[in-house]
This record gives sequence, structure tokens and C-alpha cells, in this order.
Amino acid sequence: MCGIVGYIGKKQAAPILIEALKRLEYRGYDSSGVAVIDRLNYELAVRKTSGKIKDLEELLESSPLPLSSVGISHTRWATHGAPNKINSHPHVDCSGKIVLVHNGIIENYEELRDILWKKGHKFVSETDTEIIVHLIEEYYKRDIFVAVQKAVKQLRGSFALGVLCLDEPDILIAARIGSPLIIGLGKNENFIASDVPAILEHTKKVIYLKEGELAKIQEDKIQLFDFDGRAVSCHIDKVTLKVDTVKKQGFPHFMLKEIHEQPSVLTQMFQHRIKNNKISFDDGGLSEKCFKGINHIFIVACGTAYHAGLVGKYLIEQLASIPVSIDVSSEFRYRTPVINKKTLVVAISQSGETADTLAAVKEAKLKGAKIISICNVVGSSLARVSDRVLYTHAGPEIGVASTKAYTAQLGILYLFAIKLGNARQTLSSIQAKMFIKDLKQIPSAYIKILKDKNAIAKIAENNAHYGCFLFLGRNINFPSALEGALKLKEISYIPAEGYAAGEMKHGPIALIDEYRAVICLAPESNIYEKMISNIQEIRSRRGKVIAIATEGDEVINKHADNVIFIPKINQLLTPFLIALPLQMIAYYIAVKRGCDVDQPRNLAKSVTVE
Ligand code: F6R
Repeated sequence: MCGIVGYIGKKQAAPILIEALKRLEYRGYDSSGVAVIDRLNYELAVRKTSGKIKDLEELLESSPLPLSSVGISHTRWATHGAPNKINSHPHVDCSGKIVLVHNGIIENYEELRDILWKKGHKFVSETDTEIIVHLIEEYYKRDIFVAVQKAVKQLRGSFALGVLCLDEPDILIAARIGSPLIIGLGKNENFIASDVPAILEHTKKVIYLKEGELAKIQEDKIQLFDFDGRAVSCHIDKVTLKVDTVKKQGFPHFMLKEIHEQPSVLTQMFQHRIKNNKISFDDGGLSEKCFKGINHIFIVACGTAYHAGLVGKYLIEQLASIPVSIDVSSEFRYRTPVINKKTLVVAISQSGETADTLAAVKEAKLKGAKIISICNVVGSSLARVSDRVLYTHAGPEIGVASTKAYTAQLGILYLFAIKLGNARQTLSSIQAKMFIKDLKQIPSAYIKILKDKNAIAKIAENNAHYGCFLFLGRNINFPSALEGALKLKEISYIPAEGYAAGEMKHGPIALIDEYRAVICLAPESNIYEKMISNIQEIRSRRGKVIAIATEGDEVINKHADNVIFIPKINQLLTPFLIALPLQMIAYYIAVKRGCDVDQPRNLAKSVTVE
């Protein structure tokens, strides 16, 4: 979704603003822009364009910005109005003196637009954002801070804002509700950004702006206020991210790099969370006491995180024998789930900023549920509204398609299910120990699968011409089928559907013919034979079968056109190992088809609007 950057200091602002935007590209966008104030010549200059940041750079070459050490920049993911130059940010008021960038959605923009229009304001774009700058103009009486403060109180919806005023060029204003915004602290310079990677090359000291906070930022001073103008205290965090982790490090794409990072992410997770065969979530404050009195678990999440949650449901019900309901966050919020103080809500989100998941959690909290979140981004909004946070610590995930965050979410869910099973005495210590032992094999199994990457790439490339894919799995690998299909469609744009294999006869079988490829998840398990029957049904209708099976399976070659083998493992743990070839199939097919793997069209990494 939209990315915001702001700079105030002594250096040239434009290169900093553009480089920082590049670090936010992963969020997804379709146009970009930059505005700077030339304090010497009293000029506000704005440049914007549709397309990628390289298009903005080309524009800046033909139409350079004046020298300046204060500015704001933006990547826009279109919501209201087409992704064209006029609708892109920054937006300017009628006087041409106030300029603003925004991430979020203003829900009452039509109402405000009518009021402002009647007062004589002229609108040029179709965006909801433009009303904010005119509203600030309406309140502006030689104090930009007060004008922004009055304006934000009128807005409904979600917003992170960066605002500058030509008449007060030494002040950068930031404000937020719903959408993320951080302030980076430098020496005689300060920054704002939607996310830490944007400013990591300049500073590791950050303030996470809280809901309903406004910041008045100067090059050597930062003051925080609530929307009523009362000063509030600020907490400075030191981020531990390394600049290198947000670079490709020799891989052609972030997605491939992140696929390769999975063994080390899980190794670190298990080292950190398993001590003497005991699972510890102490850093998240989660002890066995937290499970007392709980009689129902709800899992809420979106997209890939939802698929991890679905695996979690199978696991928790099996190991801890407690009912688990799961919803995509956007549905949870608008139906009436039965929630009370005995309900535990587990919210899963890589970014911790997904608007639907945040809204679902807030709803559940109001009804008295306890919230545990499984989150990757430290300090994110979800982490802050949860009672307990279990961080995945997978490091920044830049590729839009989630890979290492998914398997890290699985890692936490397995540990969580074992711990809960232990606490509820549905899993004996010996059984828990065996699970933990099996879990620890996963990183080496990953390394083994990665060694076969050329063979997997070949299978993917040879099948990249199919116009439609079905993914079939059973039991705990039904979610794997959903995830495989999502991965493929989002980065290669090939229609792909995931199904519970047993459901095939109830509809999807009508799709099967020689033009369909079916990825069948058939690891060794108690339902293996049922999967083989499904594969035969596909073959007898001339469907192409690509199977993922367990090493040593001599039967599968007879039934499938191509087979990818995974190491032998406890069947409950197979979703971990199956995820890897599915990610690689999606990746190599997308590359073969020339798709933009890291930034697929229309997608955003962090979906901060509902
Ligand atoms: C798919 C993908 C998305 C996200 C979804 C939730 O590869 O990345 O489906 O999983 O948008 O995002 P988070 O986990 O940040 O809440």
C-alpha cells in the first residue's frame, strides 16, 4: 500500500526521499511523487508521475527539483481514482503553499469535499486525500501545526500523513490513525516513513507514532501531541535490523532470497524458543497461565497468514483438543461470532498492519476476548493492540509473495500447539519431546530440498505454459493446497485453485482435461491411498499430474507425470516441507513467464485499507 517518506535536515532532500521510496517499493504501488521546499527562493516544487520510481527518476532528470533540505515523497497504491499523475501524491492546496502525502482511506471525504467545495476550494483529483490538504488550508492561520491538528479531528477512516507548508519550511508534521508511521531520529536531521527499511541507511533510532498522535518535527527537535494538542511523551526504540537484510544479497529476486532464508529462520526460532526440550514464549509473556479458562480459540488472518492459521487449526485441535474456529479477518468482523472472556483470539499477520486483521482484533477485544498475535514486524500496530505477541523474527520480508513469514508462522503455531497440548494435558511430555525432535529436523530437510532446486525449476518451467492449475491436498495439507494456488496466481497471474482433494468430485473435476495441470500433494500419511485414487481420477481424464511425495515412495512414479520428493517426516509436519517446493514452482513459473516476481501487479505487501 502507499508509502510515505519525509526528510528535514541539512542534506539534499530529494536523493534521500527517492532512495527511501525504493525501500518501500515492496509495499506495492502504481505511481509516485516528491515535493521539496526551497527555503532560499521561497518555492514549493512538486514532481509526480504514474508508473515506477524509475519513471519518477527520469522525470527528475528532465525537470530537476531545486536544491532543498526538506521534503516529502510518496508511492501510491490507487484506491480512489485511477493510478495517474493527477491522482498521485503529494497533493497541494489552492494557495499552492501546503503540501501533503497520505496513506489510508478517508471515509467521510465526500461529505468534507462538499463542504469545502461550497467554501470555494478547487479540487483537481479524484482522490479522498486531496480533501485533507484543503481542510488544512481552511484552518490555516499562520500555524501549520494547529491547522493539521484541527483538520485531523474532522477525518474518519485511516490515515498516516506527512505535511509541509511553504510559509513554515522548518517544520514537518506527521499524524496517524490506523496506518503505520515512524519517525527516524538522526543528527541534525529527522525522517518520517511508513516502515523502518526506508530509513535504515540513515538511522536506527525510531519512534513508532501511536494511534491518534501528531508530531511536530524539526531538524533538531521532535514533539509529540494528541489530537487535542496536549503534549505526550515519546519512546525511542533502537531497531536491530541490518541494512543488508533489506538487500537482495546476490539473488535475482527478494522472493528467492527469502525462500533460501527459511532453514536459518527456523533454526534460529527453534534455538531461541526450545530450551531443554521445553518451549518458551517468555519474551511474549505467554505462560501456561494464559490458557486458563479458555474453551474456544478463534484464529483470524488474511491471505497466506490465513493458510498458516488453517494448518494451526488442524494442529491445535489434534494436539490440544480444543475447538478452533478460523475466519478470514474481513469476514470475522462483519458476522457475529460468539466471543466472550473464555475465547482466545489468535491473530496472524506478517506485517502486523493489515487493516482487516486489526479491525477483527479490535472487535474481539471489545467483546472481552484475549488476543495473542503471531507477528513478524516488531512494534507493529497488531503487536501493540494484542495482549501477548509471539514474534516470528523471520527478518524483513520484501517480496510481496509471503514465503519465509509463512513457514515461520507455521513454526510458531506448532510450538504453540505443543505448549497448549502440554498445558491441557492432552499431550504427554514424551509426545511433546518427540514432536520437538521432529521439528528440529525441518531446517536440514529444507537444505536437502533446496539442493534439488534445479530439478524443481525444470519441472516448473516445463509446465509454465498451462493456463490453469489445480492444487489438491487432504487433511493438514488442504491448507498447503490453498497456499500453493495463492502463491502461483499472485506472482504468475495464472488462474489457480486450491481444493481439498476429497471435494474434487463435487465440482472441480469438471475442469480436468489435457489443458489442466494438477499439483497433487501426496506425502506419506494415513490418507496417502485416498490421494492416489484422486490422482488416478485426474489421469484418466488426461489431466497433467505433478505430485509432491515422500522420498522412497516407489508407487507415485507410476501415477504422476512429474514428482518432486520431500524428505520423510512425521505426517503432521509435512506442511512445512511441502511449502518449499510449492513456493519454488510458483517462483520458477513466474520467472519463466517474465512476471515481476517481487512486485506483482495490483498487490501490496502491507494491506492497510479494508
Ligand atoms: C500472499 C500474501 C498475502 C498476505 C496477506 C496478509 O503471498 O503475502 O496474502 O499474506 O495480505 O498479510 P499480513 O500477513 O501482513 O497480515
